[in-house]
Amino acid sequence: MLPVEIDFCSPADVDAVWAVEEASFWPPWPRAVIERDLAGESDYLYLCARAGGRALGFAVLQKRGLWAELANIAVLPLYRKRGVASQLLAAAGEIASEIGCRAMSLRVRVSNTGAAALYRLFGFSPAGREREYYADGEDAFIMEARLPLRLPGEGEQS
Ligand SMILES: CC(C)(COP(=O)(O)OP(=O)(O)OC[C@H]1O[C@@H](n2cnc3c(N)ncnc32)[C@H](O)[C@@H]1OP(=O)(O)O)[C@@H](O)C(=O)NCCC(=O)NCCS
Repeated sequence: MLPVEIDFCSPADVDAVWAVEEASFWPPWPRAVIERDLAGESDYLYLCARAGGRALGFAVLQKRGLWAELANIAVLPLYRKRGVASQLLAAAGEIASEIGCRAMSLRVRVSNTGAAALYRLFGFSPAGREREYYADGEDAFIMEARLPLRLPGEGEQS
């Protein structure tokens, strides 16, 4: 595992977050959206995972009443499969609980089996499917988990 420090992103992180986004998604979120969000002009909370001062990944949360939506999570390709997203997800779960949420939901491309495997490790299970959710026509699985998130290695919650 690559230990990372997790904190809230600031406006100074726009370039770093954009670099991760651009390397991770097609199409990426527009850079202007990231700029707006990090300027505090939306209710999206961005968490950065850093090592040696460099942002290697980020996660985005949105509070919707008792639900927290995990709106995005991504890690630079060179640093994947080293536990960075797991540390981000664990932190996102803690913060969601702290701000009063009881459960977390997310959408994932039906083809994104790697991300879905990660979410299952943290106790997420499929709760539905949204047809043609993505602009290219791909469906999304909706996945949900109760908070606090189950951490990998812990037993199943009843
Ligand atoms: C999905 C993503 C965030 C995972 O980040 P990561 O830092 O590599 O994840 P972790 O190292 O914490 O993975 C923990 C576990 O999740 C599972 N997992 C993660 N990525 C996986 C993959 N590509 N294939 C299969 N299992 C995977 C594995 O069980 C992994 O443990 P292991 O490495 O011991 O096998 C990263 O691949 C990414 O940025 N992808 C592009 C963006 C994206 O698809 N985001 C999700 C949008 S819904």
